[in-house]
Amino acid sequence: MSANANLFSPFQLGPYTLPNRIVMAPLTRNRAGNGNVPTALNATYYVQRASAGLIIAEATQVTPSGQGYPATPGIHSPEQVEGWKLVTEAVHNHGGRIFLQLWHVGRISHPSLQPDGALPVAPSAIVPAEGTASTYEGSKPYVTPRALEIDELPGIVEQYRQGAANALAAGFDGVEIHGANGYLLDQFLRDGTNKRTDAYGGSIENRARLLLEVTAAVVDVWGADRVGVRLSPSSTFNSMSDSDPKATFSYAIEALNQFGLAYLHLLEPSEADARHGGALIPTSYFRPIFKGTLMTNWDYDRDKANAAIASGDADLVSFGKLFIANPDLPERFRINASLNAPDPSTFYGGGEQGYIDYPALELQTR
Ligand SMILES: Cc1cc2nc3c(=O)[nH]c(=O)nc-3n(C[C@H](O)[C@H](O)[C@H](O)COP(=O)(O)O)c2cc1C
Repeated sequence: MSANANLFSPFQLGPYTLPNRIVMAPLTRNRAGNGNVPTALNATYYVQRASAGLIIAEATQVTPSGQGYPATPGIHSPEQVEGWKLVTEAVHNHGGRIFLQLWHVGRISHPSLQPDGALPVAPSAIVPAEGTASTYEGSKPYVTPRALEIDELPGIVEQYRQGAANALAAGFDGVEIHGANGYLLDQFLRDGTNKRTDAYGGSIENRARLLLEVTAAVVDVWGADRVGVRLSPSSTFNSMSDSDPKATFSYAIEALNQFGLAYLHLLEPSEADARHGGALIPTSYFRPIFKGTLMTNWDYDRDKANAAIASGDADLVSFGKLFIANPDLPERFRINASLNAPDPSTFYGGGEQGYIDYPALELQTR
């Protein structure tokens, strides 16, 4: 228990001593350069946020076919590794720690983003019921993905292993496996998107198999104490559903205990999940199941986050939109300063505006 702990209590995360428990959540900003290579602009953005206890860098495709949106960075080419070095070196020079979120979007893509205009891949050939694909030519209807053959799955695991190895070469401090928000690993985990009849579908054990194989491969590269996993048990985003989310995610989380991971990162249920008839399971439900560090996220503010840590419901709290708008969020929380409001119109794509021009406190009061 951590009765006296709060956002400013240091935390030992694997080999790293975090100066605070205020984590920057992974945030796709669609501002990678040509070839989906990170640039000096991206380095500036992350450096501005280096006072976070930990930065989890934006979702980053481990392979070209894992891309689902324009200008998202990759970690599969030598140029991308060099680009990420700009980011990791700059963050380290400013005293920060940075993990990379490893991503494959599965069906949340479009042939125009795929090598050779291929169909996106997924556990089963089921088109997302709602929403549209984001392409370089604007929004387009989703296409029905191609179901992966069972003999292709070792190749998918290998793509994550290679992405993890590339992240190590790029100077990151660790990696987070993106198992949340309706992307490939989540598509395998939940039975709304996984109708397979082989060893990767049907039972919960089978549906969790790819997540666990990927985790084993990534842990093999990094050691478990520098690997986190993100899951979203209640999320209906990207047309996700499961017939028994408590059972599905309890099994997956219990199975993740075998690795001794750096952390498990869970999303709380949201209002959108409630509107879509989601299961609305609070992350605290899974607290007794996971035998390790738990990070929670979604709509937290300073007081709610302090309460979650003090009650022992979570060890770490990540902040998304507040970190977009407040590069110095820890200092603002420390002195309970007012916060800049995020501008959703500049979240996805564009240049410096809405990216590196949110003012820090001292600039405002000078
Ligand atoms: C602009 C934007 C980009 C996001 N990109 C990612 C991402 O790359 N990976 C991910 O796991 N979640 C992503 N999310 C979800 C956030 O990590 C976080 O779960 C969400 O913003 C809720 O936290 P908040 O209320 O503190 O903003 C994104 C959210 C936003 C607003």
